[in-house]
Amino acid sequence: MIDPVIDALESAGQHRLADSIRALPTDQADRLLMQVASIDLPLVERLVRELVREPAEEEPSSIGPADVDRLPSGDADSARRREAFEVGEQALRDGRVAVVLLAGGQGTRLGFDHPKGMLPIAPVTDATLFEVHAAGVGATRRRYGCDLPFLLMTSDVNDYETRGFFEQNMLFGLQPDSVTTFVQGMLPAVDPVTGDILREAPDRLALSPDGHGGIFRAMGHAAILGDLEERGIDTIVTFQVDNPLMRPADPELIGAHLMARAEMSTLVVAKLAPEERMGVMASVDGRTALVEYSDLPPALEAARDDAGSLLYWAGSTGVHCLDRAFATRLATGQAPMPFHRADKRVPTVDDPDPQAPNAVKFEAFMFDALPLASRTATVEMAREERFAPVKNADGADSPATCRAAMVDRAARWLEAEGATVPRGDTGASEFAIEIDPRYAQDAADLRGRIPSGFVVDGPLLLRN
Ligand code: UTP
Repeated sequence: MIDPVIDALESAGQHRLADSIRALPTDQADRLLMQVASIDLPLVERLVRELVREPAEEEPSSIGPADVDRLPSGDADSARRREAFEVGEQALRDGRVAVVLLAGGQGTRLGFDHPKGMLPIAPVTDATLFEVHAAGVGATRRRYGCDLPFLLMTSDVNDYETRGFFEQNMLFGLQPDSVTTFVQGMLPAVDPVTGDILREAPDRLALSPDGHGGIFRAMGHAAILGDLEERGIDTIVTFQVDNPLMRPADPELIGAHLMARAEMSTLVVAKLAPEERMGVMASVDGRTALVEYSDLPPALEAARDDAGSLLYWAGSTGVHCLDRAFATRLATGQAPMPFHRADKRVPTVDDPDPQAPNAVKFEAFMFDALPLASRTATVEMAREERFAPVKNADGADSPATCRAAMVDRAARWLEAEGATVPRGDTGASEFAIEIDPRYAQDAADLRGRIPSGFVVDGPLLLRN
C-alpha cells in the first residue's frame, strides 16, 4: 500500500503502526489512516524522542515562595483592590476582554457519563455547570454593555455532546454569534519502551486530549486569536468548567493583571492543608511557575516561615488572565509550550484490561506558560468566594462539597444584608439556597435588595 500518511508514519519512526495498517482490510485501514492524518506526527516524533526514547536528566531547579498579591489586610490594600476592580470593569466596558471556558477534559475522576459541564450542580434548580457559567457570562455582558466573546474549548471526547447540549438549551440565552466552540488537539498514547503509537481497536488509535495547555495550539488553528485582535480584544480570561463559584471575567483579576502589565496572571486561594492535592505557585529558578502537588518535595510542602505560616500556600484555581499578544506567541510556537509524560493504564488491542500503567500519554499544561511570560501577577482571592471544584465522585472536591460551598456562599451574602439563615449543628444552612448569577455575582450585588427582617424558612432561589 502506497500512501503519503504511511510514508509520514515511517519517517516518524512508527514502523509498527505502518505495518499494522498494511495488514488490515481496506475499510479498516482507511479509518485508521484518517485518524493518523489528524494527528501532528512531527510533534509525536519529537515527544517520543524527548520523553520516551532519549529522556534527558531533569536539571535540579531552585524553588522559592511566590510573590503574591495577598488578600487585603488594611485600608491601603483594600483601596488598591478597589482600584483593580474599577480598572477591570472599565476594560470590560471597553470591550477589551474575552473569556475561554476550558471544557475539553475527560473528567476521569468524576466518572460522569457525559461532559462534566452537563453535571447538575445548582442547589435548588439543579442547573448544570455549563448553565451556571453561561449565566455568569450573560450577566457580565448586561452589566457592562459589552460583547464579552464566550469561547468554549472542547475535545473530540466531548465536542459533539457539548455542542448538542448548548444548542438544545438555546445557548442558555446567549447570542449565537457571541459563542464560539473550538476543539483542542488529540495525541496518541505510546508504548513506554518503544514509543510505538498504540491502538485501542484494530482500526482506532488510543487518543486522548492534549491537555489544557493545548489551548494555545487550538486557538491558533481555529484562527481565534486573529479574530480577537480585529475586535480590539487584548485580554483573555480562561476558567475551568468544574468550578461554579468562579465569576467569569472577574473584574478584580482583570484589573490586577492590567495594572501589573502582566502577560499572564493567576488567581490563587489558600490551600486548606499542606497535603491538599493542589498545585502551588512558586518562584522556580527566579521565574513564576506552578509546582504540581506531586512534584513539591515533602519538606517544602510543610515548610513554614518564622511566623508559622505555610510558605507554599498559594493553590492555583486554574483561572488565568492572558495578554492576547502573549497567547499568540504561544500559539505560533514562538514561545513553545513544554509537554509532560504521564504513565497511565490504557486499554489497547494487545492489552484490553491493563492492571498496571502500560502506556505513556503526553499532555501540555496551561500553567507551563507562566515562566514564558515576561511579567506575571498572582492574585489571592477568598477561597469560599471563588473556589469549589468538582473533581471526584465522592469525598473532597465532589458534587456534594461543591453544592455545600454554593449554599454557604449564598447564605453568607444574605447574612451580610441582615437576613437570618438557620444553621444546623455543623454550621451549614438548614435549607438549600441558590443565587442565580444573573441576580447577583457578588455580595455587593445584594445590597439594598433583601427586605429587612428576612428569614430563610425553606429552600430559596433568588433569580430575576
Ligand atoms: P482536570 O485536570 O481536572 O481534568 O481539568 P479533568 O479532565 O476535568 O478530570 P480528570 O483529571 O480526567 O479527572 C481541569 C480543567 O481543564 C480542562 C477540564 O475540562 C477542566 O475544566 N481540560 C483538561 C481541558 O480543557 N483539556 C484537557 O485536555 C484537560
